[in-house]
Amino acid sequence: MAKSLIILGPPGAGKGTQAVRIAERVGVQHISTGDLLRDSVSKGTELGKKAEGFMNQGLLVPDDIILGMISNKLNETFAPGWILDGFPRTVVQAEALSGLLKEKEIELDHVILIDVDSEILVKRLTGRRVCADCGAIYNIEVMEKDTQKCVKCGGQLITRDDDREETVRRRLEVYNELTAPVLDYYSKTDELLMSIDGARAIDEITLEIMKGLS
Ligand code: AP5
Repeated sequence: MAKSLIILGPPGAGKGTQAVRIAERVGVQHISTGDLLRDSVSKGTELGKKAEGFMNQGLLVPDDIILGMISNKLNETFAPGWILDGFPRTVVQAEALSGLLKEKEIELDHVILIDVDSEILVKRLTGRRVCADCGAIYNIEVMEKDTQKCVKCGGQLITRDDDREETVRRRLEVYNELTAPVLDYYSKTDELLMSIDGARAIDEITLEIMKGLS
């Protein structure tokens, strides 16, 4: 079974939702740069203070900050492998990751692309709620009305600061400009890139990814 995976796709495509499931099924670590950044922001670290403004405006955090953060994380340990969610997001980041993996003699097993139409994404993101404690992801479209607590841990459900419609639209523009070229970078190595239609039920998508990995 694959051990070094990347999951790519526009904001709201379902990367986080699927990455948690794939990590559990494959038995690898889920590393989300968005979660690492939000954790730094909530702890008020130097990194968090530098990143917060960019995130709230729907812009990418500069490459040097991200690369410092991710190389520390990847240096901690490789076993039992990982699924990278939200990284790489620029061609500079993709090239730096290739260099890091080469140094460590780690082969990338799969790059999973989840693709979804923009208007669906806006609806999904403005309806997203996340648990402030465990990070579980929900959506008002499928939640029981007036639910305010996380079913998994009882934590408070909140709306992310960058899920306001105007910011969501900015994030989508940034994705098209800076992250879409990362797909070209990986499509040069055909067998690595697995493209998945993300406008279907969550379970169906997980099933298709798992089939592609085995
Ligand atoms: P990050 O947290 O990575 O945000 P993102 O890529 O914009 O992705 P999201 O987390 O918004 O969406 P997702 O695809 O994970 O969808 P989810 O599963 O939650 O990054 C945030 C910010 O940090 C960036 O804007 C940037 O500033 C900074 N950053 C992070 N990494 C960076 C990097 N490498 N370089 C520079 N800056 C970086 O699902 C969304 C909603 O849809 C949920 O409500 C979910 O329940 C629902 N849903 C999921 N799947 C389905 C489905 N199949 N059908 C119906 N609903 C679904």
